[in-house]
Amino acid sequence: MSDPVAARVAAIPRTIALVGLMGCGKSHIGRRLGGVLERPFLDSDAEVESAAGRPIRDIFETMGEAAFREGERKVIARLIDGPPCVLATGGGAFVDPATRAALLSRAVCVWLRAELDLLVLRTAGRATRPLLLTGDPRAILGDLMKKRYPLYAEAQVVVDTRNEPSENTLARVLAAIDAWWTNRESEAR
Ligand code: S3P
Repeated sequence: MSDPVAARVAAIPRTIALVGLMGCGKSHIGRRLGGVLERPFLDSDAEVESAAGRPIRDIFETMGEAAFREGERKVIARLIDGPPCVLATGGGAFVDPATRAALLSRAVCVWLRAELDLLVLRTAGRATRPLLLTGDPRAILGDLMKKRYPLYAEAQVVVDTRNEPSENTLARVLAAIDAWWTNRESEAR
C-alpha cells in the first residue's frame, strides 16, 4: 500500500462502519474503501436480504418494518464480532440504541453527512427503499434528517459528502479516520 494514510487506516484493528441517511453513498464509498484498505466490504442491507432470502421491500411488505429491524440488529451484531471489515449500514441501523452502542464501542463509525438536495438526487428513480415509497421522498428525507442527524452526530468521524468524484470523498474519509485514530492513540499514551 503506497499511500501512508491508507496504510495507517488499514492497520486500525477495528471494523469501519459507514452510517448516514439513504443516498449518502455508504455502499459506493464503502466498496471503494474496502478496495483501498484491502479489507472485505459488507453491506448490512445485503446481509439481511440474504438471511431472509428476499429483498428489503418484500421484507417490509410481508413481515413489517419491526421484523426488518430485528434482522438488521442481529446481522450487525454478528458482523461486528467478525474480522475487521468495511461495513455499510442501512440508514436506520444506527438509530437503534443497541446497534449504535455496539458500533461505537467496537468499530470506527463514519457518518457521511449530506445535504437534502443530494440525498433526493441520489435516491431518485429507485423503488428499492420502502420508506421512500410512502409519500414525497423530499419530505420524508427531510423529516428523517431532523430525527436522525443528532444520532448520526454521535459517530466518531464525520465527513461531508458532496456531488463530487468519489475519489475526493474517499480521500477525505481516509484523512478523517486517520486523524481521529492518531489523536485517540496519542491521548491514550
Ligand atoms: C433504511 C435504509 C435502507 C434500508 C431500509 C431502511 C432506513 O438502507 O436499510 O430501506 O431506515 O433509512 P440504505 O441507507 O442503504 O438505503
